[in-house]
Amino acid sequence: MTRTVYVNGTYMPEHEATISIFDRGFLMGDGVYEVTSVLDGKLVDFEGHAVRLERSLNELDMAHPVTKDDLLAIHRELVRVNEIETGLVYLQVTRGSDGDRDFVYPSADTKPTLVLFTQSKPGLVDAPSAKTGIKVISVADERWGRRDIKTVQLLYPAMGKMMAKAAGADDAWMVEDGYVTEGTSNNAYIVKGNTIITRALSNDILHGITRAAVLRFAAEAQMQVEERNFTVDEVKAADEAFITSATMFVTPVVEIDGTAVGTGAPGSVAARLRDIYIDESRKAAI
Ligand code: PDD
Repeated sequence: MTRTVYVNGTYMPEHEATISIFDRGFLMGDGVYEVTSVLDGKLVDFEGHAVRLERSLNELDMAHPVTKDDLLAIHRELVRVNEIETGLVYLQVTRGSDGDRDFVYPSADTKPTLVLFTQSKPGLVDAPSAKTGIKVISVADERWGRRDIKTVQLLYPAMGKMMAKAAGADDAWMVEDGYVTEGTSNNAYIVKGNTIITRALSNDILHGITRAAVLRFAAEAQMQVEERNFTVDEVKAADEAFITSATMFVTPVVEIDGTAVGTGAPGSVAARLRDIYIDESRKAAI
């Protein structure tokens, strides 16, 4: 089946979709994105992603291409026509193009570019990594300073993933001033005793939608949560570690820089949070 994608108001087969070579997303990374997962053909936490998108656009003085209701309708239509049961919807907004290259933003009436497409991922819920856990390495965080804005400037995270791959690991946790910021495309956590520890929100990390949900569920399940910085040495001495993101849900981390975390096997806190997260997300999906 040919995938149907959405480009600036039109649904079309993916091979017909085109964007200007002058688009600022292409020339300057001048764009933002969201990834919303799909379970049972429904959108997980659409509201959270829509609100974060609005915030990213506002922080960059970028025009909002469509209303939130229209955005929901586009997501749902793509899920329907592409018959996505389990997978995700990728959305990107760029500042568009006024037909040339210039560092200065184009005039305010320049139309933003809006692109959405789906990815079918049947194995998302039963991913092998949920059972085996993943291995991470630590790398210096060399990204820009506004990581709270979900921009498409993903070259350093892509380099981080390649560094991990070269080291025989699955992902990289980035470190700045001695403390872990986050994973290349996920938020990072450790568990010590009964306490879940994760970095507090600031411009240093992306404000994960999965993070917000998981911390809420953890509190509801009477688990202790501490939002503070932690070091790689603390990860090595932790009982458990895990990551969260829209596509990995809650996934255990069993090794960092070649050292086993806890027993070296996925821990019970991550497993419990993953189950709760998937159950609750299924119930609330729209
Ligand atoms: N990445 N931190 C970073 C740097 C991320 O890129 C992501 C998400 C997260 C987790 O955010 P959320 O829970 O809202 O997915 C944290 C997406 C999944 C991606 O780039 O594909």
